Amino acid sequence: MKEKLEQLKNEIKEALENVKSSEVLKEMEIKYFGRKGKLTTLLKGIASLNAEQKKEIGQLANEAKGELMAKLNESKAVISPEEKSKAYTDVTLPGQAIEQGHQHPVTLIENELEDIFTSLGFMILDGPELESEYFNFEALNIPRHHPARDMQDTFYVEEPGGERRRKEAKDPSTSLGAGGEYDLVMRTHTSPMQVRAMLKYGAPLRCVVPGRVFRNEATDAVHDTTFNQLEGLMIGEGISVVNLIAVMKEMLKGIFKKPVEIRVRPGYFPFTEPSLEVDVRCTQCDGSGCPACKQSGWLEMVGSGQVHPNVLRAGQIDPDKNSGFAFGLGTTRLAMMKYGISDIRLFNSGDLRFLEQF
Ligand code: DAH
Repeated sequence: MKEKLEQLKNEIKEALENVKSSEVLKEMEIKYFGRKGKLTTLLKGIASLNAEQKKEIGQLANEAKGELMAKLNESKAVISPEEKSKAYTDVTLPGQAIEQGHQHPVTLIENELEDIFTSLGFMILDGPELESEYFNFEALNIPRHHPARDMQDTFYVEEPGGERRRKEAKDPSTSLGAGGEYDLVMRTHTSPMQVRAMLKYGAPLRCVVPGRVFRNEATDAVHDTTFNQLEGLMIGEGISVVNLIAVMKEMLKGIFKKPVEIRVRPGYFPFTEPSLEVDVRCTQCDGSGCPACKQSGWLEMVGSGQVHPNVLRAGQIDPDKNSGFAFGLGTTRLAMMKYGISDIRLFNSGDLRFLEQF
């Protein structure tokens, strides 16, 4: 056994000394050190020796193994630089293209709008998508049980303990402030940020709020449960509809890259008085009538108006001193118009065939 070990040790040493390439080295490693390798098999044989031999040979074997492993590693280190020099890089090969991501069409529109509005001195704000019913409705002059709530059916979310708190509230049907008396809702519009911004920044104030909004809708090509809006708000002394129209013109010129004709009609929103609808001369047919504008020659673009005094009060702004305008722009709709997208459901489909076009 001892001799065999000695013999094998010399054989391996010699082989290691002569090895030149990493392939041969790998073969050797398997041949001698592998699971069924010569050295491994020999070492396994030690188990069947008697105690005395086991002790003596075992020790020798361990030493031999250690020595040989060290040599093996040494050989590896010597060989690899030589191996490396054999490998080469063909610098004339074309590079591997790194796949680029795509910005969502709504993000593209939002970025453009943010640039336009920052240039007009507006702050860009972000608001919560899960919103207090108070900010979404009550603070915007839409009390509980008011039919105006029907215009925006949404997803109500029960807060833990919300029901109990409502029961304990003295008069849960009236506006008690932004406390826990209210359920949470997935915001139906970006307008709740109006009062949040007023409370945080006071007057004068100029801000826009891009974001995702939610409605309990039966979906079709033009309705979805999730879409995007951009809210705008400007408050100060003597701010009126005149300023609103100027800002709208500037915004639309920025979006369509040319001055566009607009039309202002009366509208109704509980949080503005007077309320206005701003339409744009149809960008597809220039006003002669087409399916995009339902033959009317005009596209509905923006809901807007002069901020209702009750809304200013909810934002702790004195309506006798300050006034302002607000508007809501459907950025998903704008993206549909700008890029000629006929089905709103594509936006949240996650379909790469759609997204990769932008
Ligand atoms: N929040 C309204 C909606 O989603 C749009 C809107 C109308 C926003 C008038 C406003 C506004 O700020 O003044 O239908």
